[in-house]
Amino acid sequence: MIGFLLNGNHLKGEKMILDYKDVNDLNRYKIMSGSIVPRPIAWIVTEDNGVLNAAPFSYFIPISTNPALVIVAIGRKENESPKDTLANILKTKKATICFPNKDNVDQVQKCATQLPKDESEIEKYEIEVKKELEDYPPMICSTQTALFCEYYDTYKVDGDITPVILKINYQYIEDGRINERNHTNIDSIGRSGVTFKAMVDL
Ligand SMILES: Cc1cc2nc3c(=O)[nH]c(=O)nc-3n(C[C@H](O)[C@H](O)[C@H](O)COP(=O)(O)O)c2cc1C
Repeated sequence: MIGFLLNGNHLKGEKMILDYKDVNDLNRYKIMSGSIVPRPIAWIVTEDNGVLNAAPFSYFIPISTNPALVIVAIGRKENESPKDTLANILKTKKATICFPNKDNVDQVQKCATQLPKDESEIEKYEIEVKKELEDYPPMICSTQTALFCEYYDTYKVDGDITPVILKINYQYIEDGRINERNHTNIDSIGRSGVTFKAMVDL
């Protein structure tokens, strides 16, 4: 038997096949986010007219190594306008992707609150940043690695989400976190459902 119950009354022992056309957006988000786990989190720094913006995105994944591409799916603000990160990437064509770890998770969470476009999360939450490369937004000092990216393409989909493809041109890696065989040791945290999860070795 196939179950369609989404009200908490799931019957034990039944095979549960969800027909996505019958699942509303919020429930899809909850089910997908809780099932496709863990997701890496891109903590993206962008810039517009001197205002530094930082925001986390977990609908994010690498898609190719040559060219070196990642994709990030950016939604809209409550008022339907594009999120600042998307507006800045489309305008400046540049983004610096940092990664959260156990030490900066509070700042990451704060950066997820919506600020007016001319207000900087970096300034408001006193996040320390460092300008590593002239032509890219600065990186957040507490990240263990950072990807300096340029806009590559936008993948068109129906609805309110804009999946943006970014090309990695340069990468910062903290001292001691990469060895001579190019094995890295990065303690990033991920997202599982709506909670943060640290990685453990098996
Ligand atoms: C861990 C985490 C992951 C998130 N992932 C996404 C995402 O993939 N796409 C998205 O549109 N918003 C995501 N958000 C919400 C954005 O961070 C939030 O809307 C933020 O205010 C956007 O900022 P901006 O307008 O400065 O770009 C996430 C929030 C958190 C805390």
